[in-house]
Formats: sequence, structure tokens, C-alpha cells
Amino acid sequence: MTEPTPRKVDMEKIVSLCRRRGFIFPSSEIYGGLSSCWDYGPLGVELKQNIKQAWWRAVVQERDDMVGLDASILMHPQTWEASGHLKGFADPLVECKSCHLRWRSDDLKGDSCPSCGGELTEPHLFNLMFKTFIGPIEEQASVVYLRPETAQGMFVNFENVVNTTRKRLPFGIAQIGKAFRNEITTGNFIFRCREFEQMEIEFFVKPETDKQWFDYWIEERLNWYVKLGIKRENLRLRQHTKDELAHYARECYDIDYLYPMGWAELEGIANRGDFDLVQHASFSGKSLTYYDEETKQHIIPYIIEPSAGVDRTALALLCDAYDEEQAEGETRVLLHFHPTLAPIKVAVLPLSRRESLVSVAKQIYADLRQHWMVNYDDAQSIGRRYRRQDEIGTPFCVTVDFQSLEDEQATIRERDTLNQIRVPISELENTLQAKLGGEPLFVLPPGGRIWKE
Ligand code: GAP
Repeated sequence: MTEPTPRKVDMEKIVSLCRRRGFIFPSSEIYGGLSSCWDYGPLGVELKQNIKQAWWRAVVQERDDMVGLDASILMHPQTWEASGHLKGFADPLVECKSCHLRWRSDDLKGDSCPSCGGELTEPHLFNLMFKTFIGPIEEQASVVYLRPETAQGMFVNFENVVNTTRKRLPFGIAQIGKAFRNEITTGNFIFRCREFEQMEIEFFVKPETDKQWFDYWIEERLNWYVKLGIKRENLRLRQHTKDELAHYARECYDIDYLYPMGWAELEGIANRGDFDLVQHASFSGKSLTYYDEETKQHIIPYIIEPSAGVDRTALALLCDAYDEEQAEGETRVLLHFHPTLAPIKVAVLPLSRRESLVSVAKQIYADLRQHWMVNYDDAQSIGRRYRRQDEIGTPFCVTVDFQSLEDEQATIRERDTLNQIRVPISELENTLQAKLGGEPLFVLPPGGRIWKE
């Protein structure tokens, strides 16, 4: 099958917009930054919250068969023995004998240093988990790890959840949280970070139904991205070959996104079989079985795991939403964010700073911000203010002009089409609610009309 050529969204443009408009900054920038760690700025934090809320809503709030969890980042060190991370969560590392740069050997094309062409050492395995110490003693006995995935918190709480929620199979646990990996190869902006956030589901099923649930979750998760506006042609499913399967996985598919650097993993969906519950039962000495009322037998459920990255989702959404248009002799940069994800839903813009306009606009702002993240902006020309909102993906602007003082109406302008309607101020909230929910702009409220400047 031929694959589409990667689209021409330069990563530099995305990085620059994120920096310029306050989505994402390098971590501890005033000290020169910290490699592969990033800070989400005022708009980035809203985008991330919206992604997480949309995910939580789809996988917990709107389902009967899922519950949430927020486990601690630091876990008992035996967790990582049982999970196989202490032994197996390692990448093959080589070092250049001349420039001493380090590389993941399985990422390299040739057998010399990609930077200076020097000779490389033999590969040795480098564990990706960050180590630290619990309590005030820095000794081997007090070593703990920053979790490299959120998953283990859900496996070790399996019994707690079954006992406290009385959930019957099939059911799942969902968790959002930070994970840490001391990655050897980093880069591509927030694609591969050392500190990142995951949104993971562990879905427990009867063993004989694993295939059915595996297929179900692949489709469900792929559709989630499409519903949030990611173009279907920029997503693909890729099955893991036998030799790339993780030690715990029986089968795995990646949902790949066509990032600026090419196709790469956005989310992985694995059939983990009974690996995790068997391992934790064996290391903890606790029985982690499930009593099946139908067959009157204790069974070990299989686990289907859709595991997504918040940062990779944010990057995919930014790349997918990015657009440039020529308008009135200048380039209009815009982000076509789905309204659910847009950091700011509405901007309120008085045409001028005249007190009479400002007081009406500020009242509208005060009313609308009860419901959404709303910006108020009265600096510079109206054209520039529209461009600023387009560039951060604000779906709607509300403009208050001199006529508003007479007819008590304001203009709603739509980001993507530039279409405008005129709406009674008393109808603004209901109208915006409907438009943000997907109603076309030209469905008018009582007293509303199509508007041309
Ligand atoms: N519990 C299974 C698991 O952690 P994974 O494929 O290693 O599987 C799942 O990670 C998801 O976490 C990936 O699809 C990706 O979105 C995100 N992820 C993994 N490593 C990452 C990193 N270094 N930076 C950003 N996101 C990462």
C-alpha cells in the first residue's frame, strides 16, 4: 500500500507559534533549558486540559464499564521487578569514541557516529527509568523509581477497584498522569520527552473475549481522534511485528499520526493477556483472580490496554489544525481547533476603547466567562485582534460596535469561514452554546441576521 507523502507543516512553524503565543516553552529556559522537558504556557495548559477532559469524558464519564484512578507516581520498587521494567525496560546504547555523543544503536542507519563519523562502542543496555531515593538515606535499600508508565498503578489496584466498585467483567480502569523516561534519543519537540503525560486504559476481560475487545478498542480509539477533528488521512493503524512486541504484549497496534517528521506513534493498543496480574500476584503473594459468577470459577482476566500520550496528542492536534491562508494581501495563520479543544472559546472585542463600548463589551465578557474560557482584547486594530485569535484557534469572536449601543446587538464572527451574524446581546450565550456544540453559524436566534461588514 502506498502511503501519502508527509504534509508540508514545518515543525519549526509549530514550535515558533507555540513559543510566540504561549502554548509551550522550553523548561527552565532562563537557565538554558533542560533537554526534552517542556513547560506548557497559558494556552498550552488549556489545550492539554481540554484534551484530558475530552478523553476522560469519552472513556469514563460516558461509560458504565469504566472507572477512574489516580495512583501515586512513586510505587513500591517490587512493582518494577514484577512488571519486567527493571530487567527489560532498556534501550541499546552506543557511545562515539571520538565525540562521546551517545546514541540508541537500533535508531542508527550505519555503524559509525552520525555526528562526527567516529567509531562507536559495543552496545550496552541502558535502563530508561529515573532512580531516586525515598526518605533521607541515599542507599540501595531506599531506591524508588519515577514511574515510566501509569499502567502499573492500575494493575496493583485491580482488587481494590473490584472490591469497592463491584464491577463485573468486562470493565476498565482509566488514569491520566505523568510518566518519566530517561530517553536516549529525544527531539522532535514534544514528541519524545523525558517527562510526559499518559492517558491509559486497562480494560479487564474474560480471556476468551480478548480478540473481540482488542478490535473494539482499536476502532473506538481511532474514532476518538477523528471526532476531535484530526483528518483521517493523517492517521493510520500499524501492527507490531513479532520482534518489536513489548515483553508483556501478545498483540499490539499503534495508531500513528503523520507528524512533520513522518509517521510515528500517537497511541498504542496492546493485548497484554494475563501477564500483569500473574506477575503481580506472584511477586506480592496476593491472589489477583476474579470470581466469575457464571462459571463459578476463579479466573485471571486478560487486559486490553489503549495507551495514549497527552503531549503527542497535543502535537498531532497542533500540526493538524495549523493552516495558512492568503487574505487581503497578508498571510492569515490559523489553528482550526475543534471547539472542544480550543484553549479560548470566545474573544470579546470592542471596536474601540471608547468608554460606552468598553462597558458593554466588559459586561458581555463577564457574562460569557461564567461558561467558557473567554478573552477580552481591546488593543490594536480590530483586524489584528482577529488575526491574534485566529492564530490561537479561537472559534468565535464577539464584536461590539457603535451600532450595538443603539440596537443592543453584537456580531459573532466565525474563525474558519470568516462569516458573521448579528445577534441580540441577550441571545449571545445561547447562540454561542449552540455554535460551540456544532450548530452552523447561519442558524439564527430570534432577532438575529446574517451580517456583512
Ligand atoms: N503502558 C504502555 C505504554 O506505556 P508506550 O507505547 O511505551 O506504552 C504509550 O507508551 C504512549 O505514551 C505512546 O503511544 C506515546 O503517546 C506516549 N509516550 C511514550 N513515551 C513517550 C515520550 N518519551 N514522550 C512523549 N510521549 C511518550
